Amino acid sequence: MYHLECIKCGARYKADEVIYTCRKCDGLLDVVYDYSQIHLTREDLKGPLSVWKYKALLPISREPITLKEGGTPIYHMKRIGERIGMKEAYAKHEGMNPSGSFKDRGMTVGVTKALELGMKSVACASTGNTSASLAVYGARAGIPVIVLLPQGKVALGKVAQALIHGARVISIKGNFDDALRLVRELCIENNIYLLNSINPYRLEGQKTIGFEIADFFGWEVPDRIILPVGNAGNITAIFKGLNELKTLGIIDRIPMMTGIQAEGSAPIAKAIKSGAAAITVEEHPETVATAIRIGDPVNAVKALNAIRMSGGTAETVTDDEILAAQKLLANTEGIGVEPASAASVAGLIKLRKMGVVGKDERVVCVVTGHLLKDPETVIKMCDKPIEVEANEKAIERVLGINRMAGIKAR
Ligand SMILES: Cc1ncc(COP(=O)(O)O)c(C=O)c1O
Ligand SMILES: [Zn+2]
Repeated sequence: MYHLECIKCGARYKADEVIYTCRKCDGLLDVVYDYSQIHLTREDLKGPLSVWKYKALLPISREPITLKEGGTPIYHMKRIGERIGMKEAYAKHEGMNPSGSFKDRGMTVGVTKALELGMKSVACASTGNTSASLAVYGARAGIPVIVLLPQGKVALGKVAQALIHGARVISIKGNFDDALRLVRELCIENNIYLLNSINPYRLEGQKTIGFEIADFFGWEVPDRIILPVGNAGNITAIFKGLNELKTLGIIDRIPMMTGIQAEGSAPIAKAIKSGAAAITVEEHPETVATAIRIGDPVNAVKALNAIRMSGGTAETVTDDEILAAQKLLANTEGIGVEPASAASVAGLIKLRKMGVVGKDERVVCVVTGHLLKDPETVIKMCDKPIEVEANEKAIERVLGINRMAGIKAR
């Protein structure tokens, strides 16, 4: 029903081979299905959203390792839309997944695949969320998990998750790109299953974000999907999934895939803006949005293709723009996300100002992780709680409440 195929030289590999890149040319691999054998209609896809609803397009035959991932809400951003002069701005809140980020979609499929392939342990390098998610799904599957993190650059909530769910947490004196290089070697030499987004099976789970967006709008896809981009797995996966729906005749067009990167960590956005065929590695990536602090994205080739083939674009945003968007989402829409996630909304605001996003477009920003992942950044940015004596008068005084006039409007 499916096999692995090199995107560069077309070499094919059996579905049950443990392989991450092409043996002939080191190119990235894709899971390719025999679409003529998949009979799926809109009618078959009635019912609530979830990752496993789309199992006809997932490469798994055994019972999944699951915590009921997916089915995340899509919220209308009415107030932010009004500010930037557009009616149809939405946020898909991937922070509402079991471990608080979109990575769970990839890990429910990836960890299930590990068991299907007979692998006994799993590992990843991570800017935080991948490690939290792998720790959760490894615990669920009952197998050992090893995670490599860049020292001092992972948000507290994510480290806490990896630890409590029982992963072996190793802090590398280097950045994410160093950690990924090391974990790839470790996995290949020790027969450990690698679950970074270079693993094509993990990306199969993540393509369900695209399925859910199309499904939510009754298969009328939005004009544009905006995502924060780090290792570039997610933008690639969503594009692949939507192309599969098009091949099957379930949707009739592909949204403009739009990637947003932090200014200090933007190899893909720079390549798109300059028209370069390939990225230039950013040796010292830096941003407050630690989840996307990646200078050498492994899926760059796939992502550049997804953006260009869909007529989309990529843009950079500053750390200040990211934090301002995070705050705006939180206090005008009630949507709490971590800094990297807010990059998609910061990008929408910037692209709308530049006139790249039209006022009548229907746009979905994927907000990728929950606010509580990174409480330290929030605490630094907000005013401290006001300390008062334990009496009502003192509280009214600091609140500036006048008993006759009541509380000031927001
Ligand atoms: C919250 C969050 N947003 C975005 C990303 C970037 O996703 P990708 O690496 O697939 O581009 C990550 C990756 O770690 C993340 O944790
Ligand atoms: Zn190849």
